[in-house]
Amino acid sequence: MTEQYISSDEFKGLLAGAAGQVNSALACLLEKHAGIHSDLKRAMAYSLEAPGKRIRGAMVLWCCEAVCGEIMPGAKAAAGAVEMVHTYSLVHDDLPSLDDDDMRRGQPTCHKAFGEAMAILAGDALLTFAFEVLAVEISDAEAASKLISVLAKASGGAGMIAGQVADIAGEKSGGGLEMLEYIHTNKTAKMFEAAAVMGGICGGASKEQISDLRGYGMAVGLGFQVADDILDVSASSEELGKTAGKDAMQEKITYPAVVGLDESKRIANDLADKAIESLSSFDGKADVLRQLSIELLSRSR
Ligand code: IPE
Ligand code: IPE
Ligand code: MG
Ligand code: MG
Ligand code: MG
Repeated sequence: MTEQYISSDEFKGLLAGAAGQVNSALACLLEKHAGIHSDLKRAMAYSLEAPGKRIRGAMVLWCCEAVCGEIMPGAKAAAGAVEMVHTYSLVHDDLPSLDDDDMRRGQPTCHKAFGEAMAILAGDALLTFAFEVLAVEISDAEAASKLISVLAKASGGAGMIAGQVADIAGEKSGGGLEMLEYIHTNKTAKMFEAAAVMGGICGGASKEQISDLRGYGMAVGLGFQVADDILDVSASSEELGKTAGKDAMQEKITYPAVVGLDESKRIANDLADKAIESLSSFDGKADVLRQLSIELLSRSR
């Protein structure tokens, strides 16, 4: 069995605490932002405030804490921005022209609840809002510019969107491991990498620390998507809060489809080890990050 850095119960408590901080940051940012069209705001809040796990947001907070020992106010805004971009990516991922999903975060998808046009627009507005938050809420101009650039790169056409394009193109293509790694690295791991680096920036990390956090985020992010693929074939829709078995139905390129379930689990384990190794220069303040990479292996949603 893998070494535990903190107990699973303690970890659960810390994640609940971090998710709480991310949720209050999101509610506060949305409230404060005047002038959003009321119908649009309802659709944005519907998806944003639904019970996401807030793993990426927690990662921003914890990486900041691992670097400087506390959660700086800028880290909360950055965590909110990351979760806004992530939520937008889910709203669009679920659209009929992409994965065509009816359920997300335990409730009807945004387009099921508000119609396709509003879901597209709510996604657009969440994406734009994230960058406004970074520009307005981060008082140090140099940090703000770095955060904006890291998040833009990870979520844009050479990052998450590239992965989504390849994911759609890969359906029914019978693509192999190389295509699989490209898709997962881009559609998911780069956003985790950005979350880790953004936390580091908020904590005033050195170049070396940023590079270590980059490695950590990338390994956790890849492992996270491997686990998502595994859960798609092994968990129920009730557990997941989204439709299980979708990947096989759409003949997606996934780890279980390409390498099988056992090998997928082995790869996820290796990635957790790699994530922990990336943090070797960090002290005990990074234990929650180490434990996160282990907990993600056994997650059930
Ligand atoms: C779902 O992400 C999309 C993937 C990249 C696998 P999460 O599993 O983090 O979704 P939420 O935020 O908890 O709803
Ligand atoms: C989602 O991948 C990646 C995103 C960029 C949103 P999936 O399509 O596997 O995510 P789920 O399973 O719908 O949450
Ligand atoms: Mg998808
Ligand atoms: Mg999907
Ligand atoms: Mg999935």
